[in-house]
Amino acid sequence: MLRVAVVGSGPSGVYTAQSLVEHDSGVLVDVLDRLPCPYGLVRYGVAPDHEKIKSLQNNLRAVLEHERVRFLGGVRVGADGVPADRLRELYHAVVYCVGAATDRHLGIPGEDLPGSFSATEFVSWYSAHPDAVAGRFVLEARSAVVIGVGNVAVDVTRMLARGATELSPTDMPQAALTALAASRVTEIHMAGRRGPSQARFTTKELRELGALPDTDVIVDPAELALDPAYTDPSGLPAPQRRNVEVLRGWAERPRTGAPRRIRLRFFLRPVELLAAGGRVGVVRFERTAPDGQGGVTGTGRYEEVEAQLVLRSVGYRGVPLEGLPFDAGRGTVPNQAGRVLREGVVAPGEYVAGWIKRGPTGVIGTNRPCAKETAMSLLADAPALVRRELPGDPVAALRAEGVEPVDWSGWLGIERAEAELGASLGRGVVKLPDWESLLAAARGAVP
Ligand SMILES: Cc1cc2nc3c(=O)[nH]c(=O)nc-3n(C[C@H](O)[C@H](O)[C@H](O)COP(=O)(O)OP(=O)(O)OC[C@H]3O[C@@H](n4cnc5c(N)ncnc54)[C@H](O)[C@@H]3O)c2cc1C
Ligand SMILES: NC(=O)c1ccc[n+]([C@@H]2O[C@H](COP(=O)([O-])OP(=O)(O)OC[C@H]3O[C@@H](n4cnc5c(N)ncnc54)[C@H](OP(=O)(O)O)[C@@H]3O)[C@@H](O)[C@H]2O)c1
Repeated sequence: MLRVAVVGSGPSGVYTAQSLVEHDSGVLVDVLDRLPCPYGLVRYGVAPDHEKIKSLQNNLRAVLEHERVRFLGGVRVGADGVPADRLRELYHAVVYCVGAATDRHLGIPGEDLPGSFSATEFVSWYSAHPDAVAGRFVLEARSAVVIGVGNVAVDVTRMLARGATELSPTDMPQAALTALAASRVTEIHMAGRRGPSQARFTTKELRELGALPDTDVIVDPAELALDPAYTDPSGLPAPQRRNVEVLRGWAERPRTGAPRRIRLRFFLRPVELLAAGGRVGVVRFERTAPDGQGGVTGTGRYEEVEAQLVLRSVGYRGVPLEGLPFDAGRGTVPNQAGRVLREGVVAPGEYVAGWIKRGPTGVIGTNRPCAKETAMSLLADAPALVRRELPGDPVAALRAEGVEPVDWSGWLGIERAEAELGASLGRGVVKLPDWESLLAAARGAVP
């Protein structure tokens, strides 16, 4: 049998495992994750109010329950964990599907003032990621600025605008629910440095903002019109054209006087975050203008927007994994059709898939063909890889070295504990938010 370790149980890891076992009946796959819980950003990124997308976990679950697939949670690979070299000894092949764990920086003064957070931090908090910092996000804030106009920016804007009634049925951790329910944020500005026709959000996600209860979405037609494609969107590709049409509709719609307002702003480049009373108070933007080639130039005119909360949603970034090559410019592992390249040469038995292979773009489904390409590269190499004799069952070896993986029954224990917690709070499933309670639930589970 060909023994493969897949590192990371997000969509790319699970789709890689699926491709491998579906295409070759002689493959055994262990899916390792540093967290005791599977599913990566499907569990810890997809917004709690997107129940339908979250339910994709059921598809991923079926793969992790396959008879030739094992889930090994709580196993970190790289620094402070199982060294990449050791993993390579224990398996014929290792596929790294570790995602892009951190956020990009703006590199502007005031970026790290109290009250200014990355969207990654905010998302981790409301998703109950066990590494999330205890949230003081919405406390005392009345006006929030979200920087960036991608789908994550739309997610965090929507979460700021949702009320307790809508959040309570989700699996959001109780502390985040209580904090967001008590939020006094009434103004949410979401700002893009380029024009509406270059925004990265998708129309379905954009439209959801317009359907939020008790919320007016405000767009200034004069600001939209700075984009030449706004006046005549006919030359735009369909997704961008639809975005522009939705924005145009909102610009023409009368306000209802709702208690909350989302202001969608364009052609504003953040240049500085200014403090007030020891924390962020204002975001200073430079007005930009289209340069005719899809980019923008500065105009030397500035605008200040009040904000006691700033969420920087300007994209994610891969982090290097000790023992693996890394392209710091792209934030990815150099590869050829998923085969890891070390100094330009294919490293036998090492592969990548997902965001660490392509960079941090693409929806869950994008990872399926990406993972398949990697799995096919691996299976093509299999005859050479399988010749190497392995030391025995990798789990026994890991245990002997002091690593105690959370197995599938441990994960089921976490699921049960989350259902019980929800029932005790009069809610549905409620996520456990910290390492201690996750590991207690996993270890208390009967195999
Ligand atoms: C906030 C947010 C919301 C999103 N919402 C949607 C959505 O609604 N719909 C949609 O289609 N797409 C959405 N996406 C995109 C989608 O989540 C990604 O395309 C997808 O998760 C990328 O898959 P991945 O497997 O490469 O990475 P991830 O999902 O990040 O999985 C990586 C896994 O690797 C593990 N790992 C990392 N380092 C190590 C290590 N050293 N050792 C062991 N394990 C490790 C992590 O714990 C994690 O489980 C969203 C993305 C973000 C950031
Ligand atoms: N519901 C969903 O389907 C869903 C939900 C969440 C995420 N996702 C997916 O996950 C991926 C990541 O999403 P994302 O929103 O993090 O990334 P993204 O789509 O790459 O958007 C990043 C945004 O940040 C802006 N930005 C980057 N650097 C900036 C800077 N220095 N100053 C100001 N603005 C800056 C970008 O503007 P420019 O364009 O000008 O660079 C862009 O508006 C995407 O593929 C997304 O579709 C999907």
